[in-house]
Amino acid sequence: MKRFAGIIVAFLGALAISTAQAKPIEIKFSHVVAENTPKGQMALKFKELVDQRLDGKVVVKVYPNSQLFTDGKVLQAMQLGDVEMAAPSLSKFQKYTKKLQIFDLPFLFEDMEAVETFQNSPAGKELLKSLERKMLVGLGYLHNGMKQLSANQPIRTPADIAGKKYRIMTSDVLQAQFEAVHAIPLKKPFSEVFTLLQTRAIDGQENTWSNIYSKKFFEVQDYVTETNHGLLDYLVVSSAEFWYGLPQDIRNELQAALDEAIAYGNQIAAQKAKEDRQKIIDSGKSQVVEITDEERQQWVNAMRPVWKRFEKEVGADLIDAAIKSNK
Ligand code: LMR
Repeated sequence: MKRFAGIIVAFLGALAISTAQAKPIEIKFSHVVAENTPKGQMALKFKELVDQRLDGKVVVKVYPNSQLFTDGKVLQAMQLGDVEMAAPSLSKFQKYTKKLQIFDLPFLFEDMEAVETFQNSPAGKELLKSLERKMLVGLGYLHNGMKQLSANQPIRTPADIAGKKYRIMTSDVLQAQFEAVHAIPLKKPFSEVFTLLQTRAIDGQENTWSNIYSKKFFEVQDYVTETNHGLLDYLVVSSAEFWYGLPQDIRNELQAALDEAIAYGNQIAAQKAKEDRQKIIDSGKSQVVEITDEERQQWVNAMRPVWKRFEKEVGADLIDAAIKSNK
């Protein structure tokens, strides 16, 4: 009888192990933007490629629109093992590393080509590792694009936004940038921006064409000024425990799928920067303000001193490397 019970226990044990092995690895991918954006499309492409190539061994579930976590919560949740992947904007990592603040310095990159050059340079690639001490892994950069300023009046020069309340991401560089033009910056989650604008609790915000369009900010703001004053790009991240705990072959396949999805997302980013700008103009709901070179120079003069303030935290060498990426 004892022997029989032993056989049953061994059998059930083996069954449990084989069931556990057959269970797919689940990747919850949490983000805050709409699906018709560079990040939304990249995440869906990643899911599609994983479905095709990993034969049910890995299942990706994408949660857009802050459904699972806001960016303020997602990195901590990742460290606790509650979510496996996310791609917060580079402006949202300052609690984890000061180095990525470089991407927020106003008027540092002349265009997206310069951003691409810097991110692919040895210095840029090294920055992917800047979260390792916090047990997070940078898996790749993803573009969104350059930021513009939206408002309820036509903003042309820094004097026009003095005293106005502007929503910013959780970044001290962005805070300093708005303080440099005497505006009042307020750090708020992306999920609250539309309501804050609609109720006029804030006067304006800075964002890319695709975010202004997909989240309908243009419907509650009368003007968008084309300043291209700063960058909004992303870092795709995972937790070191999850990522390095994966079997090597699966990790390689996932990294390859992600690289491809990022390349796809970058194409969408370039397209959307043009298309969504045009859609906003065509909507007739918000007017796009183009500033002159002389007006733009006023913004540069007012905001550039911010670099000096963050030079120590970011590193003068790194700033130099970024400047060299401009042609
Ligand atoms: C924002 O908070 O404005 C952006 O980070 C949203 C995003 O992820 O593009």
